[in-house]
Amino acid sequence: MSLQVVSPTGGIAPLLRADGVSLEYGGTRATHDVSFDVYRGDRFVLLGPSGCGKSSLLKAAAGFIKPAAGSISINGEEVRGPGPDRIVVFQEFDQLPPWKTVKENVMFPLLMTKRVSRHEAAERAMHWIAKVGLSGFENAHPHTLSGGMKQRVAIARALAMQPEVLLMDEPFAALDALTRRKMQEELGRLWEELRFTLLFVTHSIEEALVVGNRILLLSPHPGQVRAELNSHQFDLASAGSAEFQAASQRIHGLLFGADDAAAGAVAPAQAGAYAERADKRSMDSRVRGNDGRGVAP
Ligand SMILES: Nc1ncnc2c1ncn2[C@@H]1O[C@H](COP(=O)(O)OP(=O)(O)O)[C@@H](O)[C@H]1O
Ligand SMILES: [Mg+2]
Repeated sequence: MSLQVVSPTGGIAPLLRADGVSLEYGGTRATHDVSFDVYRGDRFVLLGPSGCGKSSLLKAAAGFIKPAAGSISINGEEVRGPGPDRIVVFQEFDQLPPWKTVKENVMFPLLMTKRVSRHEAAERAMHWIAKVGLSGFENAHPHTLSGGMKQRVAIARALAMQPEVLLMDEPFAALDALTRRKMQEELGRLWEELRFTLLFVTHSIEEALVVGNRILLLSPHPGQVRAELNSHQFDLASAGSAEFQAASQRIHGLLFGADDAAAGAVAPAQAGAYAERADKRSMDSRVRGNDGRGVAP
């Protein structure tokens, strides 16, 4: 059996915790009682169909909207507003002020914090621009860049802030398939090097498996937790494999299957070593991956 159950009180505290989060817009519930824990170094993915509240949860984590019930905390402190410890990369290419150059865009939030001098901000900006492969484009304006390059700038700008958690809301969804793949690969490469903590939103099952080490499945209207999966063993290289296909089918079943019979079409053992949490209330039997927390799946 590929599942291993561990106690939630087993030691390490989560970096980011969503605890029974319900989000509402004018009395309409967007998410209901959503709980999850993100640990340092996780690539935690919120996956679900359009309208299940992924963006709303990300915005709540960023501190842009306040839960109607429940809470989000970071390092044990309740999130009460935006902060430099949580930086968001959005899907939209227009997230970069067009009148600023690439370098000025990356420097801008650093200067806003007033924690670094202009000289240091410029140095850091050049460092991160190189890290995302944009050396030579420092003085270009966003409108002269491709969509993929604009997203690289947004990633450089976010990483330059060295946030506790990098929040990404479908950052590659508007890119063509090849560029999207390339960006997923480069995000993986950056993570291998830097081991930042990522909270990543997508509606693509494949992208969730490629990007994440843990995946929270959400069902819509209102968004609720369906399951939590451990997906650390998948990457772009394994994307065509039978194991990957099986995992992806099982996720599809969990998200869209009429009942658990459909979801159970592929057993976890067959689908590979990914663990799942079928019901968020069974907190005692929370399952954890082996991604840095020493528990083998
Ligand atoms: N600003 C808003 N005002 C009113 N309703 C909203 C707003 N933003 C999102 N919603 C609603 O909340 C639900 C979740 O939306 P969202 O978080 O954008 O989902 P997702 O990102 O998963 O597609 C949807 O039903 C959506 O219509
Ligand atoms: Mg969204």
